[in-house]
Amino acid sequence: MKNTLIAPSVLAADFANLQRDIEMINKSEADWFHVDIMDGVFVPNISFGMPVLEAITRHAKKTIDVHLMIVNPDQYIKTFAELGAHNLTVHYEACTHLHRTLQAIKAEGMKAGVAINPHTNVSLLEDIINDIDLVCLMSVNPGFGGQSFIEKTYDKIKQLKEIITRNGAHTLIEIDGGVTDRNAVQLVEAGADVLVAGNYVFRAADPVTTVAGLKTLTSF
Ligand code: DX5
Ligand code: ZN
Repeated sequence: MKNTLIAPSVLAADFANLQRDIEMINKSEADWFHVDIMDGVFVPNISFGMPVLEAITRHAKKTIDVHLMIVNPDQYIKTFAELGAHNLTVHYEACTHLHRTLQAIKAEGMKAGVAINPHTNVSLLEDIINDIDLVCLMSVNPGFGGQSFIEKTYDKIKQLKEIITRNGAHTLIEIDGGVTDRNAVQLVEAGADVLVAGNYVFRAADPVTTVAGLKTLTSF
């Protein structure tokens, strides 16, 4: 049976009630906390930085999945490890020496992730797939929550799954952006292992039940 991992995106939480929202996700069937860090340079938005991540990790009782949408991520790898990140994902488009960056992430004891923008072809990961613990396929343009899902993502998942299998890799496929109960099953059928959901979870009348619903829907 497939155990699809559900990763609510803290970006859609109520920042004035962050502890309440974190406790809510702790109680839910969610598997990870997805934490979006944006620098206003790699993406046209600024989210939050180290002090807020520190506050999140103080209360969160699940895997901390940090998604860096920043240029020059190398200079902060050690800091994110110290702040309690379990997974650290960098953008393919922001890394000139991706192989070196992934080794540096692992050397700090974290799982190494690579995110790719909607325009980036998954075949570019072929030569490095065995070094990647997690590929985050962006199903919206990074920078904002609440955008609509890009349908091309299904094809990209299938192509990526094929690359992973062909190379005997153990890489997880994470989908980030516009995930709802309307596309979740099709995403998992295509090969997704982890579903990030921001607005779908936090804007729901009952986020705990919504997470449970998504979990049930995608575990078959
Ligand atoms: C977008 C972020 C996403 C975002 C997803 O740049 O990487 O993680 O929070 O939000 P929804 O699920 O609302 O599209
Ligand atoms: Zn994200």
